[in-house]
Amino acid sequence: MSRDETWSPASWRQKKALQQPDYIDPGKYEKILGRLNSLPPLVFPGEVIKLKNKIALAAQGGQFILQGGDCVERFSDCNEKTIMNKIKILLQMSVVLTYASGKPVVKIGRIAGQFSKPRSRNFEKVDGVDIPVYRGDSINSYEPIAGERIPRPSRLLESYFYASSTINYIRAMIDGGFADLHQPYNWNLHEIEQTGKWKEYSGIVEQILDAIRFMESFGGVYTEKLGRIEFYTSHEGLHLGYEEAMTRKDTITGEYFNLGAHMIWIGERTREIDGAHVEYCKGISNPIGIKIGPSMTKDELINLLKYLNPENEQGRITLITRLGVNNVRKVLPGLINSINQKKLEVTWSCDPMHGNTALTKEGLKTRNCEDILTELKETYMIHNDHKACLGGVHFELTGEDVTECTGGAVNLKVHDLSRNYQSFCDPRLNYAQSMEIAFLIAKLIKKENE
Ligand code: PEP
Ligand code: CO
Repeated sequence: MSRDETWSPASWRQKKALQQPDYIDPGKYEKILGRLNSLPPLVFPGEVIKLKNKIALAAQGGQFILQGGDCVERFSDCNEKTIMNKIKILLQMSVVLTYASGKPVVKIGRIAGQFSKPRSRNFEKVDGVDIPVYRGDSINSYEPIAGERIPRPSRLLESYFYASSTINYIRAMIDGGFADLHQPYNWNLHEIEQTGKWKEYSGIVEQILDAIRFMESFGGVYTEKLGRIEFYTSHEGLHLGYEEAMTRKDTITGEYFNLGAHMIWIGERTREIDGAHVEYCKGISNPIGIKIGPSMTKDELINLLKYLNPENEQGRITLITRLGVNNVRKVLPGLINSINQKKLEVTWSCDPMHGNTALTKEGLKTRNCEDILTELKETYMIHNDHKACLGGVHFELTGEDVTECTGGAVNLKVHDLSRNYQSFCDPRLNYAQSMEIAFLIAKLIKKENE
């Protein structure tokens, strides 16, 4: 990627930056950014480039991207069980997807840094009083007390250390053989045997194990390769001071990388072309995701792509559509056609979560599994009908048995939601619902391959 010489990791500061906290003591904030900048990176440029190459392959259907995790990670999520469960669900879903598609699945977590959230409103009412909203653990506290909602720069340092513990544990699990395909039952979560999908899942696992045994007895496979997977991290590049501090110039290529995560995405609320978030992402060589809501116009999208990817590099941009079940048919065909016409290189992914959020009467945010499945199916069909390829999917999910989205095989109803509603931001698919969706995608892909 060639660099624009006027760009620097700090050049976003000349532009309008939405969704940034206002710190009471800017001197302290800058000092903390300096400290962050002196700490070692969490990922390595070579890994980031590898991921970009895989995303490029996914654009042509050579790989399939599974990106998922929490809407917002909490510092308290940095514990053995929560991290392991998230990795387990992503591994299990990827087994199903790999088996159905015959394609390698690129696994990207919304993990190890997903600590900042864009919000639609600056204040919320608590006991009749307006207090500032929660913006993620990297900024303020979830506790609904005005004083706790004051942004504190020291939380950015904490974010770094929680992200580094999380990524360290993921790397250790993978290096230690946790993701070894010889032992897929390691990834079982207690709930799977209670779901209708257990038989289907264990059938796939047994077939994979048979194939491995056959290949091993035949002697021709590099079996140690089956013990290793690659796992990548991603988060929304929202808090630009933090992202700037995690940006380093690679001594080998001379390019700038955000080394706080492998992939960074730009959210639906901060994707304006003359804004600070786009300016920041323009200069880093990481693969960049762009969330696309229903208000995106063809011209806006084309201009954004030309700006962020002037050399039309493959793998650089993933377009993550989150149009909602009521808009996908109206909006997606036009966007695909104009990108095809202009021959712009993008990898298409679908986030069927964020366009389908609804509020219950009690004010709980929820999403219905039927809407999620329908948006996913329709997105898949529209890509097929318009000579494009859906290269991946993007979910908010958890390995825990939460009750945040309605429907699914367990048929959760609105009145069930309060039973175990844990999300501090958007509602996530629970374990059974995530597996169900993996099987649905597998069916769609399989049909196409037949
Ligand atoms: C998110 O991914 O949590 C999010 C806020 O998404 P979007 O920018 O698409 O609304
Ligand atoms: Co969300």
